[in-house]
Amino acid sequence: MIALPRMPACGRLPLALAAFLAVGLAASQESGDSQKRDYSGLSGDSGRGFYVARLAGCITCHRAPDEGGSVFSGGLPIESRAGTYFVPNITPHPEDGIGGWTFEDFARSLTEGLDPQGNHYFPVYPYPFYTRLSSQDIVDLWVAVQSTPAVAGRAPKHKLKLFYRMRGAVGGWKGRFFDPGEFEPDTSRSEQWNRGRYLAEGPAHCGACHTPRGSMGGRDLSRRYQGGVEKVGANGPDITTETLVADGWTEGDLSWSLRSGIMANGDAYGGEMAEIVHHGTRYWSNEDLAAIAAYFFDQPANE
Ligand code: HEC
Ligand code: HEC
Repeated sequence: MIALPRMPACGRLPLALAAFLAVGLAASQESGDSQKRDYSGLSGDSGRGFYVARLAGCITCHRAPDEGGSVFSGGLPIESRAGTYFVPNITPHPEDGIGGWTFEDFARSLTEGLDPQGNHYFPVYPYPFYTRLSSQDIVDLWVAVQSTPAVAGRAPKHKLKLFYRMRGAVGGWKGRFFDPGEFEPDTSRSEQWNRGRYLAEGPAHCGACHTPRGSMGGRDLSRRYQGGVEKVGANGPDITTETLVADGWTEGDLSWSLRSGIMANGDAYGGEMAEIVHHGTRYWSNEDLAAIAAYFFDQPANE
């Protein structure tokens, strides 16, 4: 069993919101509306939805600070450069959770990063990745979230430094760095490879920590998965195909490590990665673990 560090998996995400102010208040680009999805004809399944919540880390973040807390009840603090975020209660409680929400509110929060009143969410909520979710996965997630017991109690208000508090500024950030839209498979590749890419780029948001970010906290997609260690914020190592191979990883090592928490060199994953495995990837199916490994061992060059 892996030891759990205190820092949550969602820990030190970089949000250089101070810098966004410059562009943020000036620009009033509304992101998102480009994307009108059609959910009609889809029906959700809570079992599938809880699986998607494991793929997507919803359970990793939206938990109580104490281990025994109810699922989705929130309250976990996320420390970051911006200050401390507290993860909200997303149980169906009518006042303290999202019991008053419609499915459309829920889908819009995931795919456009907007609350029911149209205010921007901070991108510490990984909607820049969840916008790639399939409509079926969103419908399933909704049913799962709705099926959990309503838990009373709101998370404390975020304690953010002055410049990071401004939700309006996030609009400018989104105008530059948020690219809404569903995942598009590459038809020249296999179904397994596309599934792996979907997982990495969508629900599992591997790039949140493994892709370097610029000074404004946007991911530098020309250096996808090259690691953020030396850059502000992102803190996962380089996991490009080249580096994994050079470091002695095989595809089998990667998928096994996401189940067991043990890396190719025999050490246990530490820090945020240990939490990603503990609350997320160790519950994945063998097929999904194989798919994500297949993708990471055959990444397109700087797509
Ligand atoms: C890295 C941590 C993290 C992960 C992973 C995460 N969330 Fe969140 N989520 C947050 C934070 C922090 C907020 C509050 C954002 C804000 O205040 O702008 C939030 C906000 C939300 C909200 C809005 C709640 C409200 O009261 O306005 C919903 C709904 C939500 N998340 C659902 C999900 C779902 C579903 C998943 C999985 C697909 C998920 N989240 C994964 C951290 C996370
Ligand atoms: C919340 C941040 C975060 C997310 C999301 C994340 N990682 Fe990591 N990852 C880390 C950190 C931090 C480390 C370093 C762990 C250590 O040093 O023990 C790491 C280490 C790794 C390593 C070991 C690399 C090496 O050679 O040392 C691999 C492989 C890896 N992650 C793959 C993934 C994959 C695949 C995903 C998506 C399913 C993912 N990570 C998502 C933060 C993250």
